[in-house]
Amino acid sequence: MPDTTIRSEQLAAQQVEYMHLIAEIMEIRKRGEKPLAFIRTYGCQQNVADSEKIKGMLSQSGFDFADSPEDADFILFNTCAVREHAEDRVFGNVGALKNLKRKHPQILIALCGCMMEEEHVANRIYNSFPFVGLVFGTHSLHHFPELLYRALVDGKRVFERGNDDKKIYEGIPVRRDGSFKGWLPIMYGCNNFCTYCIVPYVRGRERSREKAVILSEARQMINDGFKDITLLGQNVNSYGKTLETPVSFAQLIREIDETDGDYWLRFMTSHPKDCSKELIDTIAGSRHISRHLHLPFQSGSDRILKAMNRHYDRQKYLDTVNYAKEHIDNVSLTSDIIVGFPGETYADFKETLSLIREVEFTSLFTFIYSPRKGTPAASYDDPVSAEEKGKWFQELLDVQEEIAAKRCSAMVGQTERVLIESVKEKTGELNARTSGNIIVELDGSADLIGTFQNVTITKARNWILKGALA
Ligand code: 5AD
Ligand code: SF4
Repeated sequence: MPDTTIRSEQLAAQQVEYMHLIAEIMEIRKRGEKPLAFIRTYGCQQNVADSEKIKGMLSQSGFDFADSPEDADFILFNTCAVREHAEDRVFGNVGALKNLKRKHPQILIALCGCMMEEEHVANRIYNSFPFVGLVFGTHSLHHFPELLYRALVDGKRVFERGNDDKKIYEGIPVRRDGSFKGWLPIMYGCNNFCTYCIVPYVRGRERSREKAVILSEARQMINDGFKDITLLGQNVNSYGKTLETPVSFAQLIREIDETDGDYWLRFMTSHPKDCSKELIDTIAGSRHISRHLHLPFQSGSDRILKAMNRHYDRQKYLDTVNYAKEHIDNVSLTSDIIVGFPGETYADFKETLSLIREVEFTSLFTFIYSPRKGTPAASYDDPVSAEEKGKWFQELLDVQEEIAAKRCSAMVGQTERVLIESVKEKTGELNARTSGNIIVELDGSADLIGTFQNVTITKARNWILKGALA
């Protein structure tokens, strides 16, 4: 077993003991029939997966879950630090809880996640939000029951952050939000240090879960009826490098793919610098891996890619994409893009536009650069005004809308296999998704949710498709 993995029965047993103690305390503190927790998750799927562990631990501590903070005995926000806007929302929403705490002093308000690993944020919470009783960072998740217990019993505020011991803690219970679509973390942290990104500082160094543990969890999910499983990591392409017996990501997904069943396997995120031909060949030859590659390129300009410390250039990115297009039938490509990185000129930005036109992505996640305290880029000269960046951003959206519309129109008349996911509240239509991650809306009964169906595409509206059961 690699020395990064902690499967200490003792640690788990201790935490279970704390869960029992919490259940006893909550018997007295709860306002309703059962103690209720309200969890709000900001940010990426990694945070969603962490919240599912927290919910697992709370479930074992006797909690049920409330739909709004007003009803809850325990309120927790799992926060995101990736952009300033996400942080501002958290501060605003935490501030709004002040009156609730005044009305019900026995409730416990807590914050966790990436923002709490930033010292200046934790200090601000400590000094300006005295009604927050518990704060813990991403590195403290495995002993959340102990921290919650201390916050409930000691009557003192509990603040726990730092302590990146570079370990993986197995055996934490998970309470998944969905019954047919689920997340499966395969690794944690990141070693890449892209100059704009806070993630390596708040989630620590890259470490991979053992292959056998992942395989067994994936098989369990497939057995439990999950139809759409997404393997998660900041850079899945470097999965397994630090394991005692190194394993490639392609090898891992090949082995999961061998499991019989009717399911799709997805993964995110792939870093273009090490998205290998082996991986693309694996997708092409697989039975269950979705024909979708999320490959963030961030910028089309070599100069900016260098300044971002991305370790690939435009040509290498295009070579990878072209290989994927040649080998994966009907591959759907998506990407993340940052507009307005410090020092980016309009000429650089045009390179991004031309790359988008050349690749023709299905959809894009687009962001205006947001300086993150402690990252190298935060101290770079950034002469372009926010207004100017806003114009570039709009130009990017317009170009992508044109491309998405073109790609979607080309699908009209085709039959696609989709997974029916939910009912649209407004119209009563069903929301479904293709293997390439494109949304299709169609008429049908809610009984179909969680099933695969063949759908004929009848219409395309921007990047959303309309379809009918085939
Ligand atoms: N500013 C803007 N966007 C960022 N991202 C990461 N850090 C920043 C930042 N400081 C974007 C990248 C990444 C996605 C998850 O968030 O595009 O791929
Ligand atoms: Fe951030 Fe780069 Fe790591 Fe992605 S690969 S999490 S952008 S540092």
